Amino acid sequence: MENSELQRYEELKKEIHFHNYRYHVLDDPVISDAEYDRLLQELYAIEAKHPDWVTPDSPSQRAGAPPAAGFPKVNHPAPILSLANAFDADGLRAWLERIAKLDPRVLDADFTVEPKLDGLTVVLHYRNGIFVQGATRGDGEIGEEITANLRTIPALPLRLPVVENQPQTAETRSSPAGGRQISLFEAPSPPDAAQTPIPAYLVVRGEAFIPLSEFAALNARLETAGEKTYVNPRNTAAGALRNLDPSVAARRPLTLLVYQIVAWEDDPSATPQPATQAETIAYLRAVGFPVPESAYCRDLDDAIAAVNRWGERRPALDYEIDGAVIKINDLHLAASLGVVGKDPRGAIAFKFPAQEVTTRLNEIGVNVGRTGVLTPYAILEPVEIGGVTVRQATLHNFDFIAEKDIRIGDRVRVKRAGDVIPYVIGPVTAARAGTELPYTPPETCPDCAQPVEHLPGEVAWYCVNAACPAQLIRNVEHFVSRGAMDIVGMGIKIVEQLVSAGLIGDVADLYTLGRDSLLELEGFAEKKADNLLKAISVSKNRPLSRLLTALGIRGVGEVIAAELARYYPDLDALAAASVDELEAIEGIGPNIAQAIVDWFARPVNRQVLAKLRAAGVWPRADAQPEGELPAKTLAGLAFVVTGRLQGFTRQEIKEYIQARGGRVTGSVSKKTDYLVAGEDAGSKLTKAQTLGVRVIDEDDLRKMAEAGGTQPV
Ligand code: IVH
Repeated sequence: MENSELQRYEELKKEIHFHNYRYHVLDDPVISDAEYDRLLQELYAIEAKHPDWVTPDSPSQRAGAPPAAGFPKVNHPAPILSLANAFDADGLRAWLERIAKLDPRVLDADFTVEPKLDGLTVVLHYRNGIFVQGATRGDGEIGEEITANLRTIPALPLRLPVVENQPQTAETRSSPAGGRQISLFEAPSPPDAAQTPIPAYLVVRGEAFIPLSEFAALNARLETAGEKTYVNPRNTAAGALRNLDPSVAARRPLTLLVYQIVAWEDDPSATPQPATQAETIAYLRAVGFPVPESAYCRDLDDAIAAVNRWGERRPALDYEIDGAVIKINDLHLAASLGVVGKDPRGAIAFKFPAQEVTTRLNEIGVNVGRTGVLTPYAILEPVEIGGVTVRQATLHNFDFIAEKDIRIGDRVRVKRAGDVIPYVIGPVTAARAGTELPYTPPETCPDCAQPVEHLPGEVAWYCVNAACPAQLIRNVEHFVSRGAMDIVGMGIKIVEQLVSAGLIGDVADLYTLGRDSLLELEGFAEKKADNLLKAISVSKNRPLSRLLTALGIRGVGEVIAAELARYYPDLDALAAASVDELEAIEGIGPNIAQAIVDWFARPVNRQVLAKLRAAGVWPRADAQPEGELPAKTLAGLAFVVTGRLQGFTRQEIKEYIQARGGRVTGSVSKKTDYLVAGEDAGSKLTKAQTLGVRVIDEDDLRKMAEAGGTQPV
């Protein structure tokens, strides 16, 4: 009995590692999340019964370690070297000429080109295939041991090979993080499945990072929950990996790509380590590591072309790269060239023009958000970053300005990556003239001049004046937006006009706006006023979930609002709910529960609710009668929508897909089944094309939904 249970335990570990690898490394799961959870539960049950069976490579050990007191030091088995830089094709040719003087064979050498990932170097140790230790780069000789944090990264294999005798299918050979091989030529000798021995001691090197889409989603979640957002993906990844509490790393969407073998020790009669970089990548991939795309290049011109292709693809990638790395393919030849300082001669980094620049910070402005939170931003001397003129950049919060000692008049470093809002990294203190002025945060709201307040335990400063016009504008803007009451035609300009003319003092006043007062506003003719009034009137019938989203309660976004509308038939019922009752609902923690209760307790909000009720804006539960529910023809499919649509608003298409069982996500990845593209589709379309994601238009979508889904379009 024990024996067969132990056997099952071993089987389960392998199975879970395999499914984890399909999901996190290949981006191509073969079972559902629920099935995966069942396997995990079974594993946990066995481990609870037999704690002595638990091994460090068990999937249960990814997030299990308690906080550490400090990081022990680790000696790297070989120096973790850096790279020299080149900035143009001539720089690459000069590099080849330099090393040709040492060894003319390099003139006939072949190369590989990989992206230069802007993450954190990590060094991973495996003994007999088991992940036993992981470290930071440190000074290249000695790093810090961060094993428990690294274990939490789902893409990191805890046991090698992840899949025994893994067949080299087309899928397993394509890259996990960026789509297809960009090389025109295949590496000369791809490894044979049987030729993937695991040495007794293997040390590999890679980069850990947070994908840009995951970073944006993480910040969006934090923002909705009213919490502090992160500054940039790299620091967020670094902070998690260097945190003494591994549960911090477990909660951040870290991933990794591995590109180098640092040490390989085995029986002298056993298979030696791969002799070329192309074989190294193929080997690492075959045993289950996530690897970067590696283009095989027959000569330097070919390598230069591959570097240029990376430059073109850079804006569409879901991870930050700051260049490409050109490596002499023959690792013996590369090593024989030696090292200059910490830079091996056999490889070179081609640095792309910086997405980071320095410019003058002319002034610090302060935005007042819808919840009253004050956010400082930099008003910059306009500067071009990656083809876009940047005039403003976020300064995150007032603590950040103080910590970095950012002064008005400073030259500051500003960065832009993907869709992430440009942000200030810090001042260039060496460029100070002495005339820069330290910044003092405002003691009053920049908009309504009322005193601002700091809540204990939070970094943010708030304007707590419920009648603050800036807050009111943001509030109304949110109330009328697409995911909320969707009042068509009411943009920020009109909202500002209504507030500054004193026509509305809260969102409920929208429903008692008179035609005559609208006609007095600049730019309003009869038609415009009538259209607006009609749109306002139409919005009265929005379902409860939309109204809940529109009210802007801290932490209550579209998802939570929909959940609340399933439990409470109307706002009266929700207003009577207790914290405990709310906390029992899926997805609602103590903070959101408290925020909901507090919101309904505030007299100003009660007044708004009374006015909404009087105006007839009082929806009852969203539930649709069973008979009217559309068939789940899009079940299991993931969609991304981009561009201008004809027959749907964004919100409508989202609801259309969701009502039919499909999912709608914000960014294109290999997990996306279809991109629904309207007119003027931009970077999402490029990305879908790069990843081979199917692109359809709204008519195709309707046909699919009517015909019952997954037929190829
Ligand atoms: S190879 C001897 N390959 O860039 C091998 N490095 O500026 C040297 N990096 O410290 C490294 N992506 O952390 C290599 N595909 C890649 C890389 C890469 C990012 C980092 C690495 C290194 C830094 C050098």
